[in-house]
Amino acid sequence: MLNELEVLAKTARTELEQLDSGAALDHWNSKYIGRKGELTQMLRRVSELPKEERPVFGQRANELKRELETAYTAKEAAVKAAELEQSMAESGLDVTLPGRPASPGRLHPSTQTLRRIYRIWAEMGFQVYRSRDVETDEMNFQLLNFPPHHPAREMQDTFYTTNPDVLLRTHTSPGQIRVMRDYCPEPIRVILPGMCYRHEQITARSEIQFHQVEGLAVGRGIRMSDLKGTLINFTSRLYGQGRPVRFRASHFPFTEPSAEMDVQCFLCNGQGCRMCKYTGWLEILGCGMVHPNVLRNGGYDPNIFSGFAFGMGPERITILGHGIEDIRLFWGNDLRFLEQF
Ligand code: PHE
Repeated sequence: MLNELEVLAKTARTELEQLDSGAALDHWNSKYIGRKGELTQMLRRVSELPKEERPVFGQRANELKRELETAYTAKEAAVKAAELEQSMAESGLDVTLPGRPASPGRLHPSTQTLRRIYRIWAEMGFQVYRSRDVETDEMNFQLLNFPPHHPAREMQDTFYTTNPDVLLRTHTSPGQIRVMRDYCPEPIRVILPGMCYRHEQITARSEIQFHQVEGLAVGRGIRMSDLKGTLINFTSRLYGQGRPVRFRASHFPFTEPSAEMDVQCFLCNGQGCRMCKYTGWLEILGCGMVHPNVLRNGGYDPNIFSGFAFGMGPERITILGHGIEDIRLFWGNDLRFLEQF
């Protein structure tokens, strides 16, 4: 049996030397030195031997097993190294190539414009006041001087909920009422940014959702000249000092008088081009003195208090600033557009 043992060990060693893969090594391991391996089995057969031969056999068998285990470990390391070497050669890994940069994402162009606008108004002492997107008919229209069936509602159709008086706001102006009721009788200087909704045919020029930034100042002795001075200051911070502006008379039910503000086209400097539709001017916001009814609805006595309000569209400002031709790009989730900002 001792002889048998030596032959077995020799065969195992020769076989091991020829192996060249991890799978073959596993197979060899269970064939010889694993729990059911031949050598292990033979060790168990020590009891078949006459008593006096057992120590010699046992000692030799253990010795051989240890030898094979050591040889196995060495071979395993060699095979692994060879396999790694081969896979590196095959895949042509070039460790000197620069790594692939992680894509950290970026701010949406509208968010970038909004933050510019917040920063400028913050410098001028206006706080951000957040107001809800889902509004009542009363807040969005009635308290702003749009009674039911008023023709000015026609331009601001929206999305209605199953509750007849609850709708998605068509402008940020209902926030004027909310902030006045919140602060009354304190003076107010806020901007009210947020998303607005209108039931529109979606085209290159109109979307069903868009941002607005409303502004509101209420106090004693606020006059039209304050409105003009403040807005001129804002545009020179946004578009640079000295850019000409103009106010055109307009109409909004909740301001009186009302105006629209234009800046001179910064593409053609007033010469007339495609962007300004050959007028030389770009309309950037609507504004006016807060209507006495609106002040009253907010809790302020119009005989003591006055104020001005304005509303601008960050998407429009972004479109003009970058020459964007299609407003649908803003919510289209197309990375080819978004990655340009
Ligand atoms: N809410 C008006 C609109 O959406 C804009 C506006 C706001 C005009 C405040 C005057 C004062 O068209």
